Amino acid sequence: MKASGRIGIFDSGLGGLSVMAAIHQLMPNESLLYYGDSKNAPYGIKTKEAVYDRSKAICDLLIEEGCKAIVIACNTATSAAVTKLRETLSVPIIGMEPAIKPALSMTEGKVLVLATAMTLKEDKFNQLVLDMSAESQILRWPAPDLVTLVENDFDNEKLVAETVSKCFATLTEAPKAVVLGCTHFVFLKKEIEAYFNHEAVVIDGNLGTAQQLKRQLEKRNLCIEGIKEGTLEIRNSFGEAFEEKSKCMLSHLLKEAKHYGE
Ligand code: DGL
Repeated sequence: MKASGRIGIFDSGLGGLSVMAAIHQLMPNESLLYYGDSKNAPYGIKTKEAVYDRSKAICDLLIEEGCKAIVIACNTATSAAVTKLRETLSVPIIGMEPAIKPALSMTEGKVLVLATAMTLKEDKFNQLVLDMSAESQILRWPAPDLVTLVENDFDNEKLVAETVSKCFATLTEAPKAVVLGCTHFVFLKKEIEAYFNHEAVVIDGNLGTAQQLKRQLEKRNLCIEGIKEGTLEIRNSFGEAFEEKSKCMLSHLLKEAKHYGE
């Protein structure tokens, strides 16, 4: 394992690019290799075993490429696979956690957690709610259509607005905070804020994950030395068209940096 190695990042598809942007902003001289598994998205409606198998195969590929650490830029894959991956692999594995701690510290009202059905059902999330004694405040809100929307139609403004409205159509109580518990949803942050008339705070866990990665690298002396800007490479199981689309989405995020990284 070399301090000069890249950081591997993966997701079921395009959502984890938002985590890649946060990592690049926090550690611009680290080189990053992103793998989006769009061909197999969405993960949230698969079995836990299927998500583990895909996650393990992608981690093997990233390690083969010499990655010194891996970020699971996917709440769903973290819920399904992080424990077993940490037991099996020798590189540090950093996972996602829905940002309910900061959300609960900001409000005493309802906190809506927008995530995949798998994330909301798995022990990892339910233990977090239990640890925070927050059951009565938490509103679990699965949103599979929003994942597909970001994968295929992120730039279709009309469809984005319609799908976001449809997602919350049966909501009877306005939340005080919305936690984006799926990395895909960071791409819809502005639309979700607008849907709730900017009266609910909308937060994601991306900066927290990037900071956790930094701490883990520092602890193991794995941070890259020097000030040269790192390289950013993106691969996707759907091939070139999705890789090109990913590059556009990443540069869009980096341009909107203050929205996503602070
Ligand atoms: N980006 C994902 C997450 O953070 C997964 C979406 C999916 O594939 O269902 O949970």
